[in-house]
Amino acid sequence: MSIQPPLRHLLSLQDLPRPALETLLNDADRIASGPSRNSSLRERHVGRSVVNLFFEASTRTRSSFQIAAQRIGADVLNFDVAQSSARKGETLLDTFLNLQAMGCELFVVRVAEQDVLQTLADASRPGVGLVNAGDGRANHPTQGLLDMLTIRQHKGRDFSALRVLLVGDILHSRVARSDLHALRTLGTGEIRVCGPQALLPGDATLDGCHVFDRLDAAIEGVDVVMMLRLQRERMEEGLIGSLDDYHRDYGLGAARLRRASPEAIVTHPGPMNRGVEISDEVADGPQSVILQQVANGVAVRMAVLDHVLSVT
Ligand code: NCD
Repeated sequence: MSIQPPLRHLLSLQDLPRPALETLLNDADRIASGPSRNSSLRERHVGRSVVNLFFEASTRTRSSFQIAAQRIGADVLNFDVAQSSARKGETLLDTFLNLQAMGCELFVVRVAEQDVLQTLADASRPGVGLVNAGDGRANHPTQGLLDMLTIRQHKGRDFSALRVLLVGDILHSRVARSDLHALRTLGTGEIRVCGPQALLPGDATLDGCHVFDRLDAAIEGVDVVMMLRLQRERMEEGLIGSLDDYHRDYGLGAARLRRASPEAIVTHPGPMNRGVEISDEVADGPQSVILQQVANGVAVRMAVLDHVLSVT
């Protein structure tokens, strides 16, 4: 099914209407459950050119965009920032304009600053699309989509009776912001958040959420526990106490998880700080869906690339 208005760029889930969000999830679900449709994707996109432009570190997102682009038959340029003229001070906008001049059609971009994506979108020619692969603390729309797909595969399409808890460093997390946008759009029954006061944003991010400071209370009876990485690289000194204290108060171990619904699933976007926000026994345990999230990431990115390349 097509999305109206067509998905020229995917910069955020914030203003993506529910039918568009659900179309992307339905498409990704079909792709994830069988390779049959992939041949028609290849027919449509063979030889199209996709660029991975990552100015921040990445393991899962970058690799899965590359695999997704290859599976739909596109040619992928993994732009090597460290060996590029960015090191000589060339701006991101100039880098983008040059690659656009070479005929690159779809840009997957990860940056530390949050307004850059819009600047690039404003400078994009007709026929050129952008997908945000993470901009600072603001958005990570494909992670939000793959998280929703994973929840849906376990809990069904109707989120209205679900209790979903996000735990940890929400302040620095673009994943949390995109998850919250999508959870609201999908009509989630109850959204809870829990973390140390210093790591909870004071703006509209948490509107409509039930905010807890004690994890033992927050986790009571929930269906989905979404753990977040403690983002020490984005943190000022002294924002939290010791890692041991953090683990004691906000870490997810097996005993704490038993307070959630017995069928609760546990997500984490990776990379995990094992022994800090999540214990090994939970990360590798039966309720963890963390590697399923990773697998879904490829399907979600294939669906997103399909839609954006179909506009361009
Ligand atoms: C996240 C990111 O980079 O935003 N990782 C990811 O894309 N899976 C989350 C994080 O860094 O904590």
